[in-house]
Amino acid sequence: MNQKEIKDSSGKVILRAVEYDGILFPAEIAGNLEEKFRQLNNMTFRDSDVCVVSFPKSGTHWCYEIVAMLRNNTSEFQIVVPPLLDLFPVEKLKQVPDGVYVSHFIPRHMPKDFLERRCKIIHIYRNPKDVVVSMFHFLKKTKMGEMLKDMEFDVFFEMFITGNVPSSGGSWMNFIKEWMDFTNKNTSYPFMNICYEDMKRDLKGHVRKISNFLELESSEELIDEIATKCEFKTMSEFKNSHVPEFMSNLTNIKDKHIMYRKGEAGDWKNWLKVAQSEAVDSEVEVANIPLDIKYT
Ligand code: PPS
Repeated sequence: MNQKEIKDSSGKVILRAVEYDGILFPAEIAGNLEEKFRQLNNMTFRDSDVCVVSFPKSGTHWCYEIVAMLRNNTSEFQIVVPPLLDLFPVEKLKQVPDGVYVSHFIPRHMPKDFLERRCKIIHIYRNPKDVVVSMFHFLKKTKMGEMLKDMEFDVFFEMFITGNVPSSGGSWMNFIKEWMDFTNKNTSYPFMNICYEDMKRDLKGHVRKISNFLELESSEELIDEIATKCEFKTMSEFKNSHVPEFMSNLTNIKDKHIMYRKGEAGDWKNWLKVAQSEAVDSEVEVANIPLDIKYT
């Protein structure tokens, strides 16, 4: 494990990371990674457990909420922080009652027992142009983003496109490629891809698809209620008025939930320059990912 400092072009340190197994993990959440992975690999799951995997800012909380509501047969919002495998202490993960987890890990860092049991995985992905914008705004609001609070978007974009923003799955491209390789090699693994932009367009249809994937017999009434509750406006209003205590570890902002900003597809057009948009296009084209990225 190597400590790394990410600097801007003037040499100012803006983020700290820990390099482990070729990935730049955010220093603030990394801790002792060898020990963490050892503990995760000793953890036992249940066959019915499920994990939402995503590159950060791709709709993890949204998808988690839907999965947890469906699994718990309710349209009441969760008041807990989604149990992030990457961040939660293993002792806490063992106590998750409904077996619904989230993670930004790549496949080889997922707990062994989870994969060996073939627990269901739902992967939500989002137009990387909106991901970088969402990440930029989010990090500035966190305690770990203190050092980049005056940073211009262009500087952050350069860090993102060159894979220098620490995240437990590496760069956006690395994360997507790793999971797509996993599905190519494990074609019968119970795995579902969800595109953020498609879910925005047809939320009810996606709630139904997720319910079917989870082999639940959810009523049409429940599906309807969940889709209504999980529209951005309703969901963000609830979350902004029920900010979990835990968030104070992440941010000094108290009166709002920093995970819920605009919840739109296409906000990138307000931020990316033509050359930046083209740089993302060419990265995606070169990588030849078997996923339909929706540039709304
Ligand atoms: S994290 O920190 O990685 O777990 O963040 P994540 O939850 O993956 O992504 C946060 C973005 O998802 C948006 N969001 C939603 N969009 C549409 N509908 C609903 N209900 C919803 N809930 C959360 C959230 O607003 C963040 O995107 P931006 O573009 O920043 O608003």
